[in-house]
Amino acid sequence: MKTIEEQIAALKKKRGAVIIAHNYQVDEVQAIADFTGDSLELSRKAATLPNEVVVFCGVHFMAETAAILSPEKTILIPDPQAGCPMADMVTAEKLRALKGSHPGAKVVCYVNSSAEVKAESDICCTSSNAVKVAQSLGDVEIIFVPDRNLGAFVAERLGREMILYNGFCPTHERIRDSDVLEMKAEHPDALVLAHPECNKPVRDLADELLSTGQMCRFAQASDHKEFIIATEMGINYRLRNENPGKKFYPVNPDRAVCPNMKKITLEKVLWCLQDMKERVTVPKAIARRAVSSIERMLEIG
Ligand code: 13P
Ligand code: SF4
Repeated sequence: MKTIEEQIAALKKKRGAVIIAHNYQVDEVQAIADFTGDSLELSRKAATLPNEVVVFCGVHFMAETAAILSPEKTILIPDPQAGCPMADMVTAEKLRALKGSHPGAKVVCYVNSSAEVKAESDICCTSSNAVKVAQSLGDVEIIFVPDRNLGAFVAERLGREMILYNGFCPTHERIRDSDVLEMKAEHPDALVLAHPECNKPVRDLADELLSTGQMCRFAQASDHKEFIIATEMGINYRLRNENPGKKFYPVNPDRAVCPNMKKITLEKVLWCLQDMKERVTVPKAIARRAVSSIERMLEIG
């Protein structure tokens, strides 16, 4: 009897599929993935890979972004119920209303948003390029949706005002500054790496504010040996694998868990390849408008 990993590998070959996984996926899903990465790395990957079939182990907006960039490919998500509550906090209708009260403003939308919201926006960003993206717009009024924390981080870095939508990531919101202070007291030599989706008191305690991909690169390049990690738990799998001589202390490991990222399991990856379901598609009219905001972001880097 083949193990589930062997069954997935055999079926993946038969289908000519590639499996890509976000850094927050459960360890065993990351282990069978061909590529793991942050939101920007995965959207780039999905667009450039030669495979006709892409199994996207992540949340729905990520697979949707891949489908917008590569409409000719079959983009599969192992669990279509894996959504993102932050992305759901803003709708195209709410964004249109906000734009109506700020005529002339440009809209930067975090990639954690629906295709409809991307279609209403001027440019997308991820946590790794948000500062550069906002900077590229020059001296105009900027509406930033939906993450108030990432938006505030960008505004702080650029020393400017922005109109921030009041969305947030419920998982990162559960990481408190008191949790970080506790960890710092236990591990005084550790550097604090936090995700910009964390709230301000946590961001103020961080030595570095980084996307998940940037955290991986930073930890590898750094001479430091110990790190306190303030983001979703799943990232610790990669950090530990890639840096066997270094120590990683996750902040609040019981609560810093994204239940939607955790909906993807090995069984669901196998079923998805067996049934070739669920395929993620975006209506052409929306995709046509959304693709330009994603492509503008990709041009910036
Ligand atoms: P990154 O991997 O781009 O840092 O994104 C974090 C996140 O919350 C994705 O949902
Ligand atoms: Fe959404 Fe937060 Fe989960 Fe990322 S970690 S998918 S932002 S809820």
